[in-house]
Amino acid sequence: MAQDRERIVVLDFGGQYNQLIARRVREAGVFSELLSHKSGIDKIKGDALSGIIMTGGPDSVYAPDAKTCLDEVFSLGVPILGVCYGMQYMVKVFGGGVRAADVKEYGRTAIRFAKHPLFAGIDGNIVWMNHNDAVTALPQGFVSIAQTEHCPVAAFADDARRLYGIQFHAEVAHTPQGELIFRNFLQNICGCRCTYSTAGMADALIKSVRSQVGDGRVLGALSGGVDSSVASVLVHQAIGDRLTCIFVDHGLLRLNEAEEVMAFYRDTLKLNIIAVDARARFLAKLAGVTEPEQKRKIIGAEFIRVFEEEARKLGGADYLLQGTIYPDVIESGTGAADTIKSHHNVGGLPKDIGFKGLLEPLRMLFKDEVRALGEHLGIPHKLVWRQPFPGPGLAIRVIGDITEEKLDILRKSDFILRDEVAKAGLENDIWQYFTVFTGLRSVGVMGDQRTYDYAIGVRAVTSTDAMTVEWAELPYPVLRRISERIIGEVPHVNRVVYDITSKPPGTIEWE
Ligand code: XMP
Repeated sequence: MAQDRERIVVLDFGGQYNQLIARRVREAGVFSELLSHKSGIDKIKGDALSGIIMTGGPDSVYAPDAKTCLDEVFSLGVPILGVCYGMQYMVKVFGGGVRAADVKEYGRTAIRFAKHPLFAGIDGNIVWMNHNDAVTALPQGFVSIAQTEHCPVAAFADDARRLYGIQFHAEVAHTPQGELIFRNFLQNICGCRCTYSTAGMADALIKSVRSQVGDGRVLGALSGGVDSSVASVLVHQAIGDRLTCIFVDHGLLRLNEAEEVMAFYRDTLKLNIIAVDARARFLAKLAGVTEPEQKRKIIGAEFIRVFEEEARKLGGADYLLQGTIYPDVIESGTGAADTIKSHHNVGGLPKDIGFKGLLEPLRMLFKDEVRALGEHLGIPHKLVWRQPFPGPGLAIRVIGDITEEKLDILRKSDFILRDEVAKAGLENDIWQYFTVFTGLRSVGVMGDQRTYDYAIGVRAVTSTDAMTVEWAELPYPVLRRISERIIGEVPHVNRVVYDITSKPPGTIEWE
């Protein structure tokens, strides 16, 4: 996969922005892989290696269990750039000094850059800092190439050994021109040509699908979401109708969604797709269930059962297609995070029903790359930029037990919200927007009559990755129309509330 055999390894020391570093490198045009700090040398070397970036992390380099990497990493002969912890770790390994800083720096910080190829073209003087420790003595051969008021070594260089470090986080958007520092490292120091792009990747991915599958058959679950759609279109372009897709309608989809998705996949994308109407069995399994995690588990398990039955009916297949993307791979690799919600998606599909293997053509791609690839493959912009929709669907937007009546109210209100957001031209500004059936009933008055009806919650958030979100500042006139239309057009709703909770402390979905 390393195009033109240029590849950067981002060694993960546990910092929260590490995926961002890997993304910045790819955006600058070099394939990158995020690997554990404990990785072996062969894994790091891979099929090509142009340079290494050591990430930030929560440890102090002198803590007894501080994260380390193999010493051989420093003898691979490629340039190394350390970021924050990565920088301090390099200083320690080469015999310099690191200790708790007298003044800890957090947030936007003024900096002075020396003239150095790492900082070529940078004309600003602001970076984003977030550190408790600081470099107090540089190893022999290292020189300071940036300073802040409280940090005399905000960056260092050892040009002879091609070792570099930055104390600040160039990967976050708060460091203006931070992406230029990565580009400089890649071009000026690692000597990369920076030709990696998603467009160039399509052909390579199609070839690799063909060589993995041979003349076998592939079965895939299509959810209507971006990842499974792009994966299916890619594999379809590789092996044509030897790919069969299964679309399970679990009865928890939005208004008209099943019909629209099916028509689109069949008529526009020309996929070989089978729809399974499993609405009744899902709703029967969910009857009376109120606990969010239990809902998720029931849906996940039932999904597998339906999929297995359909796969058997089709006489099985050689490969199971999954829309796994790189953040799924990275996140399941560390396993350190707390389970807030057990997300159910195709990742939980059965692996033991006679498949020779899994086909995961997107497993090395970030979401923005999947979208770019999707557009390159000719998938309409509208689908590629669809707002995310959770696997368990409306089940986690009906608080309490699920009934047809509640789902009907939810679908109608959600349709109105989407319609108004589209009319206001805000679709591309909002990460996700949907309504919630709160289960709350309250007193109102309509046409001189007392009502005692349901309250609908409206949720709209902005985000770049769903990890953190802000509630969206929808214009008041839009909110007003949404509220008037929902109450006027959806029976049994007499109140609309707007959710003004960010994440954290909230989550996007209510359950
Ligand atoms: P939360 O609610 O955890 O959601 O802030 C983060 C993102 O994940 C989606 N989501 C899910 N997706 N299965 C999915 O496939 C799930 O069980 C699930 N729960 C939440 C949510 O819509 C948001 O985009």
